[in-house]
Amino acid sequence: MKRETDFLVIGSGIAGLRAAIGLSQSGNVVVLTKDKLGESNTEYAQGGVAVALSDDDQINLHFQDTIEAGAGLCDESAVRVLVEQGPQYIKELIEWGTEFDTENGELVFTKEAAHSRRRILHAHGDSTGREIVRSMLARARQAKNIEMLSHATTLSIIVQDERAVGVCYIDSETKQSSRIYARATILATGGAGQLYAHTTNPDVATGDGISMAYLAGAAVCDMEFVQFHPTALNIPNAPRFLISEAVRGEGGRLVNSQGQKFMANYDQREELAPRDIVSRAIVAEMLKTDAPYVYLDLTHLSASFIRQRFPKIFATCLKYNCDITKDLIPVSPAAHYVMGGVRTDTEGRTSLPGLYAAGEVTSTGVHGANRLASNSLLEGLVFGARAAITALNESLNLPEIREAGRELQTENWQINQQVRSEISNLMWLYAGIKRSKDGLEKALTKLNDIASQPINQTTKNMITVAKLIVQAALFRTESRGGHFREDYPQRDDKTWHCHSLQKLGHEISILELA
Ligand code: FAD
Ligand code: SIN
Repeated sequence: MKRETDFLVIGSGIAGLRAAIGLSQSGNVVVLTKDKLGESNTEYAQGGVAVALSDDDQINLHFQDTIEAGAGLCDESAVRVLVEQGPQYIKELIEWGTEFDTENGELVFTKEAAHSRRRILHAHGDSTGREIVRSMLARARQAKNIEMLSHATTLSIIVQDERAVGVCYIDSETKQSSRIYARATILATGGAGQLYAHTTNPDVATGDGISMAYLAGAAVCDMEFVQFHPTALNIPNAPRFLISEAVRGEGGRLVNSQGQKFMANYDQREELAPRDIVSRAIVAEMLKTDAPYVYLDLTHLSASFIRQRFPKIFATCLKYNCDITKDLIPVSPAAHYVMGGVRTDTEGRTSLPGLYAAGEVTSTGVHGANRLASNSLLEGLVFGARAAITALNESLNLPEIREAGRELQTENWQINQQVRSEISNLMWLYAGIKRSKDGLEKALTKLNDIASQPINQTTKNMITVAKLIVQAALFRTESRGGHFREDYPQRDDKTWHCHSLQKLGHEISILELA
């Protein structure tokens, strides 16, 4: 089946929804999304959105904190756009009905690691993402020319005369394969946490957009930088549910399995040190005490405060017999966010004409080597809006699209679960929190073995992203932010003050900072 529309958006998280709402002012928009509409990383966001809106905050301080967290690799122009335009887009979100938490009619701001001010807006305590998705879906539904197709898994981008002209997708319920053509396509497929055996990300986060863009010829950047969240719940048979950084922001303490506080031994910022430092400290304590987790301790905080401030975390832990007002919470790190992705400029353009991108799927240069907590919802919002404006402006007077692309194999199109586990175990073991040349080479050999078997497009997409991470991690012979090499434990600004760049048919290379 094939059809045409004006604009295509792939993904219905914060970036995709904001882009679709923007595009709907000038044409028909089709949003394709892999699962049900609300299923995305955005939906599960807990801590909140960082934005310099409080009386004691300044845009410049948000800028400095973001640059500091990025460990030398942020593109300053992109960070400027984020922090300067963030407030206007957050105010717009509030006008659209997003209910951030308030006290006496004033917005309340919380603190998270590496922020010099209380600047994180949150909603319903720890259900910020769900509230944002609710209000944005309501807004998108008001626009009569946005059509949202759920259970539509995009598998590849159609390229004609070196321009993206549409996508191939499969309806996972009817198993029907379709092509859809558009004047502009905005990729907003989110992250790739599911490439790792332990992750806070939902099932849909397999990095498809990065692979599709790369295989279509777009440049990909900084794939070695993966953020591991220090505190995911670690209880047998429970999901790796996130225990928000805001919990430490409100005073939660980390103790090892022998009940000893340890963060001061690793960093003077203690529990509020950057995530990579806290994650490695936890791994070191787990090894030292021969325990599969450490604990997060909130028992010194008032029980009513905990229940009111973190209702979702309280209820979820209770389901697994952990009453966080009285019990220590077993936690360990899990893959959380990929800083790298499809390279875009600050207007949302990828290097492939006709293809725009926004949100976690991208590498805008905003996060550098390590994302500052709660900056990604803001990034999705600001750059989703900007990508829509660019796509609108650049999609007038285009040559006619001829029929292109091929029907997809519809039988056995999903990844085999055994192969999926094999990939995610390899990635956790060899391309995780600590890496080395030997381990990364082992991972690459095994990924190449899997890729050499007859595989479907879904498997190919997952392996492609895994290989991009492993190859970039092998390339960068230093440690910085979310990339730690045991064989190169120091930061090396002389050689590596640059991005890594991967493009189909080219050797991996460096890209100077913008
Ligand atoms: P997503 O919200 O992940 O949306 C991606 C969309 O693309 C989904 O709809 C998905 O189904 C769809 N999709 C994927 N592949 C395909 C395909 N092949 N075809 C069609 N559709 C596809 N960040 C913060 O700033 N603050 C927080 O408090 C915070 N908390 C977090 C808590 C958790 C548990 C997690 C996992 C992440 C958190 N983050 C937080 C990170 C943040 O949520 C994400 O980076 C951000 O929401 C990404 O938005 P996005 O729109 O780019 O992608
Ligand atoms: C959290 O609530 O700890 C997640 C915040 C983020 O990933 O930005």
